[in-house]
Amino acid sequence: MATSSAPDAGAKLAEKAEVRDYFNSTGFERWKRIYSDSDDVNKVQRNIRLGHQKTVDQVLQWLQEEGDLPGRSFCDAGCGVGSLSLPLAQLGAGSIAASDLSEAMVEEARRRLEASGLAAERVQFSASDLESLQGRYDTVVCLDVFIHYPQAAAEEMVRHLGGLAERRLIVSFAPYTPLLALLKSIGQLFPGPSKTTRAYTLRENGIVAAAAEAGFRPRRRSLNQAPFYFSRLIEFERG
Ligand SMILES: C[S@@+](CC[C@H](N)C(=O)[O-])C[C@H]1O[C@@H](n2cnc3c(N)ncnc32)[C@H](O)[C@@H]1O
Repeated sequence: MATSSAPDAGAKLAEKAEVRDYFNSTGFERWKRIYSDSDDVNKVQRNIRLGHQKTVDQVLQWLQEEGDLPGRSFCDAGCGVGSLSLPLAQLGAGSIAASDLSEAMVEEARRRLEASGLAAERVQFSASDLESLQGRYDTVVCLDVFIHYPQAAAEEMVRHLGGLAERRLIVSFAPYTPLLALLKSIGQLFPGPSKTTRAYTLRENGIVAAAAEAGFRPRRRSLNQAPFYFSRLIEFERG
């Protein structure tokens, strides 16, 4: 069960290796189907797909409302199979650097890019963990990845990603609520990516405070839900 205490460096590395192994093996098979229109999913997976699509659609709507997609650069941190990056490229985004810890997820994202008919250079996919990301982007987006980060590590990551973002930072995470904690403790809710990796819920005020330290304040929020999916989405702007 998730805790909010920060694990030591060795434990952190071991946990990250576990997450990478999972998303390169059984997790890859599972999530590649959830993030697709395949009928080969059970009811829970179908609901997670629906909830996740709400998150992606909300982000795309915000980005389109902001306008000037061709003039902006994007970093999709923990991109999975490209569920955000591919439609964003389709909408004409200027440049997209998308990366994921799992080589298998990145390979699948490249395959989907090729199958989409979009020019290969429209999205630069690479295998990388969030910690290693560098560069400067107009907008940095990190969706449904913090489920693998305990509170202190997630806050550290928000500061890191904020340092890469010139104007805007968008993150989503499973929010801590007493009801969720209870449901989780009795195994009634599965808001996270797997039953085999640890899933952390996060306190929103800590995430907002970390973003403030990186120079960002919340601009818009939404709560995207479906049975078995519960995700807080926050758009931060600099200033
Ligand atoms: C639930 S999926 C979400 C994928 C994508 N952001 C989306 O919304 O479609 C979580 C992804 O986070 C990736 N991930 C987990 N820990 C990571 C880390 N430390 N660095 C980069 N990616 C990570 C996993 O490999 C997986 O592809």
